[in-house]
Amino acid sequence: MTACIAVAAPLTTRPNLVAVAEPVVDRAETIRADIEALARDLAGAERRARTPAGVPAAVEDELARRFRLLFREIEEASADLGDAAIAGLSELLGERFYPWVAASGLGERALHKPAGYAGDYQTIRMVYADVPLGSCWAGRFIDARVLESPAAWAVKNRRALLVAEIEAAAAAAAEEGRQARITSLGSGPAEELFDVWQRIAADGLRGAEALARMPICTLADMDFGALDHVCKRAAAEGCAAALRPLPANLARAALGRSDVALADQDLIYSAGLIDYFKDNLLVRLLDWIHAGLRPGGRVVLGNFHTDNPSRRMMETVLEWELIHRDEEDMRRIFARSRFGCEGLHFFFDPSGVNLFVEATRRV
Ligand SMILES: C[S@@+](CC[C@H](N)C(=O)[O-])C[C@H]1O[C@@H](n2cnc3c(N)ncnc32)[C@H](O)[C@@H]1O
Repeated sequence: MTACIAVAAPLTTRPNLVAVAEPVVDRAETIRADIEALARDLAGAERRARTPAGVPAAVEDELARRFRLLFREIEEASADLGDAAIAGLSELLGERFYPWVAASGLGERALHKPAGYAGDYQTIRMVYADVPLGSCWAGRFIDARVLESPAAWAVKNRRALLVAEIEAAAAAAAEEGRQARITSLGSGPAEELFDVWQRIAADGLRGAEALARMPICTLADMDFGALDHVCKRAAAEGCAAALRPLPANLARAALGRSDVALADQDLIYSAGLIDYFKDNLLVRLLDWIHAGLRPGGRVVLGNFHTDNPSRRMMETVLEWELIHRDEEDMRRIFARSRFGCEGLHFFFDPSGVNLFVEATRRV
């Protein structure tokens, strides 16, 4: 395999994602009618898909346009409509779209949560693979809508940002004549580490020389399947010697209920983990991370931003609930931790959905 990712420049401010809505007399009723109509037309298209003629591209494009418009309208209206109306719309969506969501590759995993939560490593791999899957046409249609959403792009984009962070840590340690130590929390498929490895290979390095360029990477995850997958892939690609799998429930570690600890790390990062941790737990995790960093070491944590334009789609269609946070939330949380809130650095992936916060352990 060749290194094929481009390391995108992070954004330091969010792009403006939400358009201004037109006033509507009864927005909830209009949206309900749109949900009913789209569900009916999706069912019609699914029946057509089973005929020799199939679904014409123009019909599919029009349904996709209506799907995007519907969720943009739900997102924009949600502040005005209030929780009860949104819950009603969510129930209707659940009822009308369930057959197609359950028949889609990502939707099926998100709804049925085989690992107990929506974002397990297999689901994340499916997002990275970026190929709509499903057991019928309408299932694949739903998968395609999820994969094109800003939330899915945030996942695909963050990988390149993490590569840049890892390479920066490796370069800084190399200047001091040592190999960097890094840890991924909630490492999942750890695709970004394989990207780093492939970029080293693309520079023409092999074997011991390549391994010397690779940081020593601790992979902390509570899912044995995820760690096993990464170890097997690393063995196949020749970088197993750089990896240290660490089976651990990081919530328990943060709360001091297990003796799992890190030491002397140059970089500790996570993406797709703290969006599941409530504030108090996150403060404890930050203290645990602080203790695991060397002086001058950095933490980089990704969290979906409160302005995520796919939030309602994730919550209603996929039942994928995350804790969204903004910069103020992060400042408030870091202020309660050993890092404090001085000198925090914020950046975004190009979709503007993934907020990253970076802090340094003071020397
Ligand atoms: C959404 S995935 C993100 C994977 C990877 N960081 C990425 O961005 O591709 C979240 C990962 O965190 C792991 N995870 C969730 N809660 C955890 C916990 N309490 N302790 C350790 N791992 C956890 C899951 O098993 C899963 O592999």
